Amino acid sequence: MALRKLRYESDEALRKVAKPVKEITESIQVLLDDMVETMRHKEGVGLAAPQVGVLRRVVVIEYKDTLYELINPEIIESSGSQKKSEGCLSLPGKSGIVERPEYVKVKALNRLGEEIVIEGTESLARIFCHELDHLDGILYTDKAISMDDDENYEDDYEDE
Ligand code: CO
Repeated sequence: MALRKLRYESDEALRKVAKPVKEITESIQVLLDDMVETMRHKEGVGLAAPQVGVLRRVVVIEYKDTLYELINPEIIESSGSQKKSEGCLSLPGKSGIVERPEYVKVKALNRLGEEIVIEGTESLARIFCHELDHLDGILYTDKAISMDDDENYEDDYEDE
């Protein structure tokens, strides 16, 4: 396993639409391992492959001690809404309020190529939406209703 270099701010990799994974090769498994290591090193709760400069539809999330490794993830159902503060590992030192669904159902492949369906509510629903947006070149700042000012910076949010 190895740490991957994070892409920040105006890096063009963050603005590209990532391509689906056609075959789960060893290099995809190495990518997953490296992304998990990089996410943990940065103390984030989620990381999408474009954030390490790889334009493939691959996401890792670690939330409440559960690790999700998602290949070609898609939101297949969503409902409700919530407005909470979000941050992003690619935009350090910032956070902003984003409206997201309260509930999402995600379909993806795991590292073995098996189809999995996961449901998330509250924070987990937000993390799914935030990471899947990265695969389409969308940053949370595109959707933010407002950005937090410095006084609120210590608010409860996590980097994704
Ligand atoms: Co992010």
